[in-house]
Amino acid sequence: MKKISRRIFLGAGTATTVVAMSQLLASCNQTQEQTGNKTQQSKEQTEINLYSSRHYNTDNALYDEFTKETGIKVNLVEGKAEELTERIKSEGSNSPADILITVDAGRLWAAKEQGIFAPVDSEILKKRIPANLRDPEGHWFSYSIRARVIMYNKEKIKPEQLSTYEDLANPKWKGKIAIRSSSNIYNKSLVASIIEADGEKASEEWCRAFVANFARPPQGNDRAQIEAAASGIADLAIANTYYLPRYKRSEDKAKQQIFNKIGVFFPNQKNRGTHVNVSGAGLVKTSPNREGAIKFLEYLSSKSAQEYFAQGNDEYPVVKGVSLDPILKSFGTFKQDTVDISSFGRLSATAVKVMDRAGWK
Ligand code: FE2
Repeated sequence: MKKISRRIFLGAGTATTVVAMSQLLASCNQTQEQTGNKTQQSKEQTEINLYSSRHYNTDNALYDEFTKETGIKVNLVEGKAEELTERIKSEGSNSPADILITVDAGRLWAAKEQGIFAPVDSEILKKRIPANLRDPEGHWFSYSIRARVIMYNKEKIKPEQLSTYEDLANPKWKGKIAIRSSSNIYNKSLVASIIEADGEKASEEWCRAFVANFARPPQGNDRAQIEAAASGIADLAIANTYYLPRYKRSEDKAKQQIFNKIGVFFPNQKNRGTHVNVSGAGLVKTSPNREGAIKFLEYLSSKSAQEYFAQGNDEYPVVKGVSLDPILKSFGTFKQDTVDISSFGRLSATAVKVMDRAGWK
C-alpha cells in the first residue's frame, strides 16, 4: 500500500506523477480493502484525482501550485478523452475521479450528455468565465482558448489575400491548403461552427470545394500542416495557435526557421470572428472529494492559474486582464466567434456526415 501510494500521491512542489489508470484502480481497490473508513475519509479530503486528456507538460506546474496553495494533492491520471469517460462510466459509483479535464468543447458536451458531471453552482466561476464558455447548468467550465487559424507561408502569400474560412473554398486556393484528417476533433468542431453559422446545406457545398483545394491527402497532426506550409508543400495550413510559438522557442535552428516563415491570419474578422475552441473541466458526479474538486475548478480560473495557461502553454486565457506570452502577443489581437460552444458537440455528428460526404479523408 505504502509503495503504491508513493508512486501515485504527490507532495507539494514535486513533479507531477502520471499514473497508469490500471495502477490507480489497483491502488484504490487496495485502499478500500486495507484502510478503515476514517483513513479513507481524511485521504479523500486532502487529495483529488484528476483525469486529464490534456497533453502538455506545463500542466504539472499548474497542479503543483494548487497543492502549494491548498494542501490538496493532485493525483493525475492521463489518457485519451474517450478512454477517460469510458473509465469513469465503468467505475460507476466507485470511481475515484473527482475532476475530468479535457480539450475540445464537443468532448465536454459529450461527457455531460453521458452523465459524467454534476452541476456546480459557483459565484466565482460564473463571474470569471464568460457565459458562452461554460455549460449553462454548470456541468463544465472552460479555462483556456485556442484559435484555429489560417497560417500562411509569408514568401508566397500576403495576408490581404485571406479573409474567411468560407473563402478557403475559392478555386484560387486549389492545391494550396494543408489540414489534418476529418476524424480530428479540432476539425469536427471547426466544421460544426461553420454549420452553426451557415447551415448544413451551404456548409456541405463549402466543404466539397474546400477539400478540392487540399495540397495533399490529410496526414499528420497540426504541426505537420505548419511544416508543410513552411516547406512549400502547401501555401496555407489550418492549425491551432498554441503550436506555433513552440517553433520560435526551440533550440533547433531549423524549427526557428519554420516559425520565421509562417504568418498567422485570424479569419472572419469582419463577421462572426475566428473559431475558438477550449480546454475545460467539470466535477465528476461521483467525486469522493467534492469540496476539494470545486476548489480546484475555482483555482483554474484564478489569475495565477490563468497565467500558466497563457504563458506556459501559449493558450489564450478565459479571464480578462491576464497577460500573454510575448510570442503569442505578437500574433495580434482578434475578434473571437462568441457562438455558444455547446453547439460544437450538438452538431458534431452532422459535421462528420458533412465531411464524409464531401470526401474529406
Ligand atoms: Fe493539441
